[in-house]
Amino acid sequence: MMSNAPSTKTLITGGAGFIGSHLAEVLISGGSHVVAIDDLSTGSPSNVAHLPANRFTLLRAPVIDAIKDLQSERFDEVYHLAAGVGVDLVLARPLEVIEGSLRNASAVLDAALAWHERDRPCAVLMASSSEVYGKSDRVPFREDDDVVYGPTTMTRWSYAYAKGMDEFVGLSYHARHSLPVVLARFFNTVGPRQSGEWGMVLPRFVQAALDGEPLQVFGDGSQQRCFCDVRDVARTLPLLVRQRICHGGVYNVGSEQLMSIRELAQRVIEVLNSSSRIETIPYAQAYRSGFEDVAARQPDLTRLKTATGFEPTITIDETIRDLAASIQARRSQRDSAPTASPASGGD
Ligand SMILES: NC(=O)c1ccc[n+]([C@@H]2O[C@H](COP(=O)([O-])OP(=O)(O)OC[C@H]3O[C@@H](n4cnc5c(N)ncnc54)[C@H](O)[C@@H]3O)[C@@H](O)[C@H]2O)c1
Repeated sequence: MMSNAPSTKTLITGGAGFIGSHLAEVLISGGSHVVAIDDLSTGSPSNVAHLPANRFTLLRAPVIDAIKDLQSERFDEVYHLAAGVGVDLVLARPLEVIEGSLRNASAVLDAALAWHERDRPCAVLMASSSEVYGKSDRVPFREDDDVVYGPTTMTRWSYAYAKGMDEFVGLSYHARHSLPVVLARFFNTVGPRQSGEWGMVLPRFVQAALDGEPLQVFGDGSQQRCFCDVRDVARTLPLLVRQRICHGGVYNVGSEQLMSIRELAQRVIEVLNSSSRIETIPYAQAYRSGFEDVAARQPDLTRLKTATGFEPTITIDETIRDLAASIQARRSQRDSAPTASPASGGD
């Protein structure tokens, strides 16, 4: 019998998370075998329950433990997405976010280097964040721009520093060991399966709109962000990791379309035909300690478009509808489950 060319074997850390589960779908539909490591701290097995068992394996463990057990395997591609994500999580567990970030990045890069040197090329994509730009007011943000951070006494900046350190480490593995590494700085990524539990704005709004509760806008709502559907983001990541020219580079990934948080809240209410109203909450009340927000975050996508031809295809209205459908599906699954699941915390 004729055999096909060997399929790509891929590792995704954080593979049962929001972006990771969509990426797994894209890779599997392209013929890859995917192994996901996830400790399910913010991810969920339900995010990946639909993936075919002969192409997808979920290792339920912390990165640091699972990666050791994979040493004798070989992988062609690694997507390192596992991280403590969300402003509320960063404020609640800064040590886990800061220390865990660097420890996990080093463990993943060490393992990838061993696979790369032992077997055949292994390329790595590391998830970074627009937070790395800090509170720079030079929009749009270009990858080589200077960054501006608040003081270390303000915990919210720890995520930016931590992701910045991950970038330094990733770029050093490329420079020193010629490991093919690419850094993807995600801007606000939104869509089905996203949870609002740790402060993500769109799922919070959609949940409130579905329940007829007020949509809570922090500050005056004039702060602007660019929202990109996770399905557009996920299909772009393999294009970055598979091009030699991208290795050793940093790429903004997201949408260029600025929208204020108040406008976003209004769109949610309109699209879902909700009776909810908008309520503004001062930052001091929302986050208790002092909190600095950033007026506008917009990526310059020149580099990404040149490398991959990237153009977002999914509108914010479609994203809102699909996210609402996924929240409703999750709720009805939970309601029909035999035992009650633990209640999720709010903001
Ligand atoms: N969603 C966004 O808008 C956004 C923006 C910027 C950057 N990012 C980055 O993208 C990546 C994915 O984020 P996401 O939005 O999918 O969030 P997510 O919380 O859904 O995904 C992270 C996943 O990693 C898992 N995880 C966390 N720590 C782990 C550990 N030590 N070991 C094993 N698994 C662990 C979680 O259970 C979760 O499934 C993260 O690195 C995040 O910093 C996301």
